[in-house]
Order: sequence, then structure tokens, then C-alpha cells
Amino acid sequence: MADNVLYYGDNLDILRRYISDESVDLVYLDPPFKSEQNYNVLFAEQNGSRAAAQIKAFGDTWRWDQTAARSYQEVVEGGPEHVSLVMQGLRKFLQESDMMAYVSMMAPRLLELRRVLKASGSVFLHCDPTASHYLKLIMDAVFQPGNFRNEIIWGYRTGGVSKRTFAKKHDTILFYSKTKDYRFQRQYYKSWQMKRYNYSAKYPEYFDEEKKMWYHKAVCRDVWEDINPIGTSAKERLSYPTQKPEALLERIIRGSSNEGDVVLDPFCGCGTAVVVAERLKRRWIGIDITHLAVALMKHRLRDTFGAKAKYKVVGEPVSLPDARALAEMDRYQFQWWALGLVGARPAEGKKGADRGIDGRLFFHDEADNKKAKTKQVVLSVKSGKVGVKDVRDLCGVVEREKAEMGVLISMEEPTGPMRREAASAGLYKSPWREKGYPRLQVRTVEELLKGKEIECPPLGQVNVTFKRAPKGTENPGTTVTQAHLFEKSKK
Ligand SMILES: C[S@@+](CC[C@H](N)C(=O)[O-])C[C@H]1O[C@@H](n2cnc3c(N)ncnc32)[C@H](O)[C@@H]1O
Repeated sequence: MADNVLYYGDNLDILRRYISDESVDLVYLDPPFKSEQNYNVLFAEQNGSRAAAQIKAFGDTWRWDQTAARSYQEVVEGGPEHVSLVMQGLRKFLQESDMMAYVSMMAPRLLELRRVLKASGSVFLHCDPTASHYLKLIMDAVFQPGNFRNEIIWGYRTGGVSKRTFAKKHDTILFYSKTKDYRFQRQYYKSWQMKRYNYSAKYPEYFDEEKKMWYHKAVCRDVWEDINPIGTSAKERLSYPTQKPEALLERIIRGSSNEGDVVLDPFCGCGTAVVVAERLKRRWIGIDITHLAVALMKHRLRDTFGAKAKYKVVGEPVSLPDARALAEMDRYQFQWWALGLVGARPAEGKKGADRGIDGRLFFHDEADNKKAKTKQVVLSVKSGKVGVKDVRDLCGVVEREKAEMGVLISMEEPTGPMRREAASAGLYKSPWREKGYPRLQVRTVEELLKGKEIECPPLGQVNVTFKRAPKGTENPGTTVTQAHLFEKSKK
């Protein structure tokens, strides 16, 4: 049985480099798309006339730049004829707009996804009405119109409503198979009927609290209105922007794969498809381009399955030079990765960073776990020069936050005075260890890469949510390529 793998990197590159032909049974992809952007902005040509403010508002999401232009040319010149023709047609209409950049980036990825699918496989492309009609054209060209199976409408009721339009409350999921011989198991949902039945104590689960209504198993149609988006108090909520509900993935995975099949999510975010695949005993492959997502998925898998989830991670730095390269390329990506080395969660947004905290670890070390207080280790990550002041600052943060301990993760070797300053912070006394734990610890990236751990009481499985990512840095709602990241780092 193949290993489950979490890849860090640009999915186009990963697919081409690592995923062999016809090796995957089911693909679910949820590519980022800033549909909340002003619709007109997406169609505006990016020439000098476009206001700088507009470009800024749109961020780096999709730009008609050299990368997009190269991607377009590659597909038009080297892709299958149908795909080339569709792309040329779209280019005439969409010109050099953000929307054209988006479809140009998607086309080569969809071609790769078709390549890796087995003949019996299917693909579910999650998008929204802003782009679904363009994507459907490309999907028709890539998979052939005869292999179109469903346009699934996922309708929901959450969020605001407009005064000027009917409330926009659905996503679109395009379902295609690779051939006509694809796997499919009909799915059911609980449908409430208004008809009243006499209460039966034999089937209490079929009745509401007033013992009045009865629901029955209804066959899922292509309009899904029984699955709610992740609410603010949902148990599965990780506060990762764009996180999809597990129930949605469960329906797709159950419907189009069997136990032991391989499920691939090339834009896996906080890993909803991966976690559901694991639970349903499928094998899985997840790809994401941010260390934020990869770190979060590791937590999610650990919190959900403990040591039972077996997988490997590919594409993360494994040596000091790799780590330095990452830090030079993108400081935040480096931070998330370094925090992942000790199993810490990145701190909440900019606020955390401004307050000297890059990450946190939580633990419980009191005998009565029910009453026990959640305790914390605050972490600070430094990729540049470090000195005694950094240790003193962290000491101040530990006190201010009333944290039990603090850890400084440093790329550079700490100086003697730094080690002494850390030692002078004393010990945190825990019931777990009579001699206590050093209150302030310094770890170099090299030490962590060699397997040295931080000293602290065993980390519990506290489901502490993962707050919003630092604004304007990670943009997990953005598809970025390695090239983008390099370009960004040069600025
Ligand atoms: C809409 S989110 C997916 C959310 C996911 N379905 C979930 O439930 O958490 C899109 C993800 O794609 C990732 N991404 C963007 N561009 C990528 C690329 N070129 N290669 C791999 N991942 C990419 C982003 O980092 C983001 O996490």
C-alpha cells in the first residue's frame, strides 16, 4: 500500500515531479479564488489605466504577469488541441485580466490531474459562480463533455444578504469522471418530511424533540442544502479561512471511492479532504504551498488520530542551508515551518507577532485533568542575528502573558551570554518532573533538525483553535507559485 503523503510546494511542480500516471482514484480540489472581489475588477485589463488602489485591493491573488502568460503559452502550444482552442477563445474575451490569469493557472493543473487519475477515477472541482462557467469550459476540454457528471450546487444560509441582488448563497462543484467506467455509490441524506407519524420508541433518532416529525433517507440530488458551512462554534472549526465542512468531503469521498483508494487534494489547505480520507480508510495525498497549511494539517492529523495516522511529509527543509533558503525567501513561511518542528501553532495574526509571540504550545500537567488549567509555552522565532536582548524580551513576554515557559528558536548559534541569561530565568515546577523544566530555553534550528526537543510536560491533545493567519503574508486564499514567492521575497 502506498504511503500517505503531505507535500509542501506548488502543486503543478509536485504533480509533475512525484505523482505517477493513473495512480489516483479521486481528486477533490478547492483552488483559492477571491470571489468577494469586485466582479468588475476581475475582468479589468491590467494595464497602466488600472488604479493602483484597485491592484492593491486585489492583492497578489491572480495577476496577468509573466508567470500567467507563460502558463497560457505552455497550454496553448503544448496542450491538447481542445484545451488550446478553449484557452485561445477565452483569451479573446477575457484579454489580460485577472480572470484570464486564473484560468491560465488552472488549465495546466487540470491537465496534470487528468493524467494522474486512474481510468475509473473522478474529479470534483470546487468553485463559485464567479468562475465556474469558465472552469466548466476548460473541464469539458480536458475531460471531454461526455464525462461531465454533475454540477453540484452546495447551498447554504449563513452570512449576510444583499439589498441589490438575491442573496448569493451557493458554491458550485463540478464533477467529471475520467472515463465512462467510473466508481459511484449513491449517497443519502436525512430528509425531514412534514407528515406526522406516531412516535415510535423503537426509532427515537427519527423524531424531533417534540416527538413529531419523521425523517427518511432521501437520495442525494445535485443540490445539497443539508450541509452547513463551518459555523463560528463548530467543533471542527480551525479558523483557517476557506475551511470546508467535513460532511461535504465525506459525501464526495464515500460516493466516488472505496476503502483503500487514493484520494488527492492538490490545494488541501487545513486538510479537510485528508482528514476525512483517513477516517474513511482511504489512502491520501495532500499538497499545499504554505507551511502554515502543512503545519496545521500535521496538528489536525495528530489531534484527530494520534499516532495512528501514518504519513510522510515531502518538500520541507531538512538541512540548515534549506532552512536558510526558506528564511530568505519568505520570513513567515520560515516561521511557520520552524514552529512546526516543535509542534507549535502559529500565534494569532499580526497582533501576536507585534507582541513578541510567534507561536504557542499548550499543555495540561495537573493530576485532575477536568479541572486542570491550560498552560502555555510561548515561542519566538528568529531567522537573523540574535543577542541577549532577545532572551530578555522573551522573558518579559512570558511574564506578561502569564505563560509557564518560553522558547526562542534561532537560526544562529546563541552566544554564551544568551545561554546564561536563559538559565537565569530559573525553572518551571511541574508535577510531571520534580526537578522542573527550564523556564526559558533556546533551541537552534540545527538542534531541532537533529531531533533535539524542547523540554516541557507532555503535550496534551487540547483542541486549541488556529486563529487567523497573519494578514497580507500567507494569504492562504491565494494561489502562489514558487516563482511568485521568489519574486515577492526580492521586493
Ligand atoms: C481554498 S483553500 C483550500 C481549503 C481546503 N479545502 C480546506 O478545507 O481547508 C486553497 C489552498 O490552496 C493553497 N494553494 C494555493 N496555491 C497553491 C499551489 N499553487 N499549490 C498548492 N497549494 C496551493 C493555499 O495555500 C490554500 O491553503
